[in-house]
Amino acid sequence: MRTEIIYIDKDNIDKVMLGRAAAIIRAGGLVAFPTETVYGIGANALDSEAAKKIYVAKGRPSDNPLILHISDINDICLYAKEIPDKAWMLATEYWPGPLTVVLKKRDIVPYETTGGLDTVAIRMPSHPVARNLIKLSRLPIAAPSANISGKPSPTKASHVYTDMNNRIDMIIDGGMASVGLESTILDCSGDMPTILRSGAISRSMLESVVGEVALDEAVCSECDAQLKPKAPGMKYRHYAPNANLTIVEGESSAVTAKINELTAAALAAGRKVGIISSKENAGFYIGGEIVIIGSREDEKAIALNLFDVLRSFDDMGVDMIYSESFEGAGLREAIMNRLVKAAAYKVIRCNYSAVQKNITDYECKAK
Ligand code: TXA
Ligand code: MG
Repeated sequence: MRTEIIYIDKDNIDKVMLGRAAAIIRAGGLVAFPTETVYGIGANALDSEAAKKIYVAKGRPSDNPLILHISDINDICLYAKEIPDKAWMLATEYWPGPLTVVLKKRDIVPYETTGGLDTVAIRMPSHPVARNLIKLSRLPIAAPSANISGKPSPTKASHVYTDMNNRIDMIIDGGMASVGLESTILDCSGDMPTILRSGAISRSMLESVVGEVALDEAVCSECDAQLKPKAPGMKYRHYAPNANLTIVEGESSAVTAKINELTAAALAAGRKVGIISSKENAGFYIGGEIVIIGSREDEKAIALNLFDVLRSFDDMGVDMIYSESFEGAGLREAIMNRLVKAAAYKVIRCNYSAVQKNITDYECKAK
């Protein structure tokens, strides 16, 4: 299949051009489009055959449900039933935006879209290209992130092209995403709203609207790989660059010293090494391909750049990647959730001994 690429300016939308993309969706085809979080591969969410094509294009297991994207908050009633007040309050507060709510599905939504579940995940994106595409197609659009299953999500059209060329009908290039991490997923189908995937809408932002919100125990960046997540997709290997990634956390100078030590050993063994560095620490590294992800102070930039940085190491063909850690609350929790998964849970913690005499007096252990 030949993949056509079109350009749409999000600030000046060419509806005739975008109408061609909508026609592909209506005809049962696949169109990648920008959202504020990451690019998605869209298909008619009510057409089981179209939904099946998404799984083939991504190489995605068929038990991993898709998010249904709408352009009007009231459309939630068309696809979900028994909508709790808390879900309405959150949708009213944070839509359009990077929040997905899981609710009981109506029969009109096929099981191919929901991965066989009786619930459906719904989101109203804020990106003007996404919203106009949904409106013009007059359909809800099922859209997973537009990457090959297991790869980092795409934040630019060029990422989509790398993974999806010749697998889908069209790619709409609408510029870079503005958030860079996928939406927060909140399960509102039970008694207690529960976060199934962290994102830019943090737990405290949700709790400020509806009171207590639970966190699926498998979501946190601290927990181990054995816990089984409730969002089916979160159990698969994710966000992984080709190279082996290790995170080094702890006191800043101990971290840079340890990364330098690991880099020197890998270089001596003939390996090509990449380093994910904060702007502040970039000058302290003595070897390897150093990629600056952003300032430690600017968590939004780190979130936005994360997947692009991971993909850039694939382009460079590095064998090993060592990354600084960016732990903290809110958006940092979502950043670390993705980074720890990309590292397949390989995290080393380094600290200085109580009486530090020189730079080499740090101790590290695997977490
Ligand atoms: O920001 C986003 O959410 C992006 C953009 C394109 O909107 N989409 C996205 O979709 O990240 P995807 O398919 O890559 O991730 C959707 C996640 C998966 O982990 C899936 O298992 C979970 O949502 N999910 C979907 N429906 C669900 C349901 N009914 N119950 C529990 N988890 C669900
Ligand atoms: Mg995904």
